[in-house]
Amino acid sequence: MKTLPFLVAVLLSLVSNGQNDSITKLPEPSRVKGKNIMESFANRASVREFDTQELDLQEIADLLWAANGINRPAEGKRTAPTAMNTQDIDVYLVNSKGAFLYDAKAHALVLINSGDYRSAVAGSQQNFAKAPIFLVIVSDVARFQRGDESQKMTWAAMDAAIVSQNINLFCAGVGLKTRPRVWMETEKLKEILKLRETQRPMMNNPVSR
Ligand SMILES: Cc1cc2nc3c(=O)[nH]c(=O)nc-3n(C[C@H](O)[C@H](O)[C@H](O)COP(=O)(O)O)c2cc1C
Repeated sequence: MKTLPFLVAVLLSLVSNGQNDSITKLPEPSRVKGKNIMESFANRASVREFDTQELDLQEIADLLWAANGINRPAEGKRTAPTAMNTQDIDVYLVNSKGAFLYDAKAHALVLINSGDYRSAVAGSQQNFAKAPIFLVIVSDVARFQRGDESQKMTWAAMDAAIVSQNINLFCAGVGLKTRPRVWMETEKLKEILKLRETQRPMMNNPVSR
């Protein structure tokens, strides 16, 4: 029976951290860090060489919030606009430990699959696979209430590109490295990220210091 108090203590610590094994609550995003917007534009560039050092949780929290976080909680609106406010985009984080969904409402990472799937995101450009994280930008075209298939794919591409540019400018502003990319093993990633038929990986950004 000695194990009972131990188990209770573990459970309490998980509850008080607001976490369990598969959900990582992220720290509040900084609203003040980074260079000013014109300096960020001046620095924006797609790099080819990535560092291997892990990013810390605050850097990841800031990056995800800048990419597609909720910046107007009263309306549930995002840092990235979407056609007709469809909010068709979900951002997934892939690192050496696993693949995670960024739950913008909870500002938390939800584990989807354990394992190192970075090479599936790097695809034909394996030199990028050593980047500590990739953000994979996924559109769910089923969320569009209007338009034919071709229009939906166009809007999905536009919405994804805006999220990617948020990442590009955030990285330029805080001195991180990134590159917007379309190459990736799309079919493999659909399985790894456990996507529905209507969800499509559109772009990805490796990010490092
Ligand atoms: C929509 C889009 C898709 C891209 N896909 C890739 C890619 O799959 N692989 C890659 O190495 N670079 C990719 N790039 C990066 C471009 O090659 C890069 O932006 C271009 O060479 C201009 O360089 P700059 O971003 O430094 O101005 C992509 C850029 C955009 C905008």
